[in-house]
Amino acid sequence: MENLISLVNKLQQACTALGDHGEESALPTLWDSLPSIAVVGGQSSGKSSVLESVVGKDFLPRGSGIVTRRPLVLQLHRIDGDREYAEFMHQPRKRYTDFAAVRKEIADETDRETGRSKQISPVPIHLSIYSPNVVNLTLIDLPGLTKVAVEGQPDSIVQDIENMVRSYIEKPNCIILAVSPANQDLATSDAIKISREVDPKGERTFGVLTKIDLMDKGTDAVDILEGRSYRLQHPWVGVVNRSQQDINKNVDMIAARRREREYFSTTPEYKHLAPRMGSEYLAKMLSKNLEQVIKSRIPGLQSLITKTIAELETELNRLGKPIANDAGGKLYTIMEICRMFDSIYKEHLDGVRPGGEKV
Ligand code: GDP
Ligand code: NA
Ligand code: MG
Repeated sequence: MENLISLVNKLQQACTALGDHGEESALPTLWDSLPSIAVVGGQSSGKSSVLESVVGKDFLPRGSGIVTRRPLVLQLHRIDGDREYAEFMHQPRKRYTDFAAVRKEIADETDRETGRSKQISPVPIHLSIYSPNVVNLTLIDLPGLTKVAVEGQPDSIVQDIENMVRSYIEKPNCIILAVSPANQDLATSDAIKISREVDPKGERTFGVLTKIDLMDKGTDAVDILEGRSYRLQHPWVGVVNRSQQDINKNVDMIAARRREREYFSTTPEYKHLAPRMGSEYLAKMLSKNLEQVIKSRIPGLQSLITKTIAELETELNRLGKPIANDAGGKLYTIMEICRMFDSIYKEHLDGVRPGGEKV
């Protein structure tokens, strides 16, 4: 199964690299159909912090106010060995081993597109992280939902952000990571409001509760975490990310994760929930769920892929061999990945009953 997720990752990458060239083919539909996980929630609810903890690396700009101003499509690739590096789609030949430099490049690339103002842009930044310590996942960090425009922003920004977020999470193959801060009333959660709109039954929504450490004394999140406040098909996961003070003091990820584990296992209210709380648990659960989504969507993906292969063959024949130009080379790559997907799918099919269970 690991194979299938990483193939989906490769397909996603290849489709994106091809850009406009694929416009008239099945490729854009294929890209839209590939499963991914999008993080939604109000501004400063802790979305970027959750993503970082899931990845186990510090690499995202975080802070108060609107920091994330373009979608970030983040692909995690599990590799063997002990190397760990990152690559941006817009800098194909540059390999980052310094993750502080990755963070700076995300901020710079955001500014290049939007200017230094607090404008937003729907044009995504694509980042891949290769590491032995990640699970294969595609995660999308989105700008936070807001209620009012701030100085220097057009009034339309509130609606623009909402539309941008919706365009990602309305796709049926999108898993929604709905982030709500525990120190605000759940009834006012932007994450819950928008995810309920596109996924009323809560079938593909994962509720993540942040800032549990910041709740008023004498209150706790047990009702939420046990699903009594707002029911979702999937259980809620509580996390404790680093505070702004921790960030300023450069508390590292390993220390933060240790403290998070300690928090849940030693706080009397949460002790009984500890095994299914925290960022590491969230990462594993998401990867497992993504596998299930891919499995259940394989038949649909498969027919699209068959169609794509056929179209690509026609297109490549038209371009003629040898494949001289860049676009031809990329088309060829996608076709190869599609074929791999095709054969792995067939292997998988052989071992599966019509009901979907493994024999
Ligand atoms: P985003 O705007 O939703 O992406 O939120 P960020 O991840 O940038 O976080 C906003 C601020 O909240 C930062 O200063 C974080 O340090 C802080 N923060 C996020 N999650 C937690 C948490 O679980 N506990 C505490 N104490 N602070 C948090
Ligand atoms: Na923020
Ligand atoms: Mg953010």
